[in-house]
Amino acid sequence: MTKEQVLAALEGIRSPEGTPLPRTGTLSDVVTTDGKVFFSITVDAAQVTAWEDVRKRAEAAVRALPGVTSALVALTAERKAGAAPRPEAATPRGPAAGQARPGPRGEAMLGVPGVEAIIAVASGKGGVGKSTTAVNLALGLGALGLKVGILDADIYGPSLPKLLAIKERPQTIGGTRLKPITRYGLTVMSIGFLIDEETPMIWRGPMVISALTQMLREVDWGALDVMVVDMPPGTGDAQLTMAQQVPLKGAVIVSTPQDLALIDARRGIAMFKRVNVPVLGIVENMSYFECPQCGTRSDIFGHGGAHREAERLGVPFLGEVPLHMTIREKSDAGLPVVATEPDGAHARIYRDIAAKVRDQLAGAAGRAAPKIVIEA
Ligand SMILES: Nc1ncnc2c1ncn2[C@@H]1O[C@H](COP(=O)(O)OP(=O)(O)OP(=O)(O)O)[C@@H](O)[C@H]1O
Ligand SMILES: [Mg+2]
Repeated sequence: MTKEQVLAALEGIRSPEGTPLPRTGTLSDVVTTDGKVFFSITVDAAQVTAWEDVRKRAEAAVRALPGVTSALVALTAERKAGAAPRPEAATPRGPAAGQARPGPRGEAMLGVPGVEAIIAVASGKGGVGKSTTAVNLALGLGALGLKVGILDADIYGPSLPKLLAIKERPQTIGGTRLKPITRYGLTVMSIGFLIDEETPMIWRGPMVISALTQMLREVDWGALDVMVVDMPPGTGDAQLTMAQQVPLKGAVIVSTPQDLALIDARRGIAMFKRVNVPVLGIVENMSYFECPQCGTRSDIFGHGGAHREAERLGVPFLGEVPLHMTIREKSDAGLPVVATEPDGAHARIYRDIAAKVRDQLAGAAGRAAPKIVIEA
């Protein structure tokens, strides 16, 4: 499948004005790898509604091509230079500092049908073990008897294909919706299933939001008690916009015990508070070092920092996960410990964290508590 073949097929799709799509000047580069096709259509924000039908038809036309296994067409809105700012539209830079406010958060804030609660796993900085925590937390919630899904919101560096050793691609249902992948009882979706890790992609802000919104709404998640969202690192505009676009019931912050990581964790907490998303608690990852040979524990990173920080900020402390070879090896091999060593000490730690998250979720939702059935 080549780019030219895709463009030829798109000649048959007309814009609302009747122009063949490839000649409208709205198309991004068409990325085709391995039967997977991705591109975006960028139009003026005021015309998004009229173009949604074009997007759908373009996606269906590409999917119908022989050799195409999946197609994702994102519709992105661009504000005309000089036009009045529209705070509800996703702008490339996201809301400016201090401008974000609670209240009506636009159409994208509608819940995902069938999904009771969506929670984010986030951190201020990268590499602290967010994705590892997200996967094992999701599995821990599953072990508590909940029906759980996990969404990889890290569009720039998707991790779930690797952490769950998923190589297959999502199937389409009826030509328009995607069927998520199931692994270890989890319902899973990641942009990494559609685009090769090696494919260089230039994602502009609105494209990210559009891809995320489609992964939320055009994927058949089915009935879920909890959807865990693995967030990209950082607390910049992109993350803030994401936190605003996904209808979150709460956020779990992952931090290492070091002071510097804690400063980032604090920023993460502040970000969620700004968009009125309750912080369900902090997980201290790589909390202490556990020697794989002798099991001896050493607090080489000044363990306990996140616990104290949680107390200081008045947010729950959810637990500490040691820095351990097994966690790293298993995680990076797509064999998360909670699923593959359920009787081990690490799995127990993650299940305890999951139980606290579940309890926090019930509390955070208050009167509108999610219908969570606990099967001990
Ligand atoms: N408790 C742990 N013990 C040992 N290794 C760990 C632990 N937690 C995470 N790791 C390892 O640290 C690395 C980074 O973890 P992970 O990818 O989960 O971090 P992340 O915060 O999601 O990173 P990014 O910001 O890039 O998304 C991985 O190799 C992972 O296996
Ligand atoms: Mg990650």
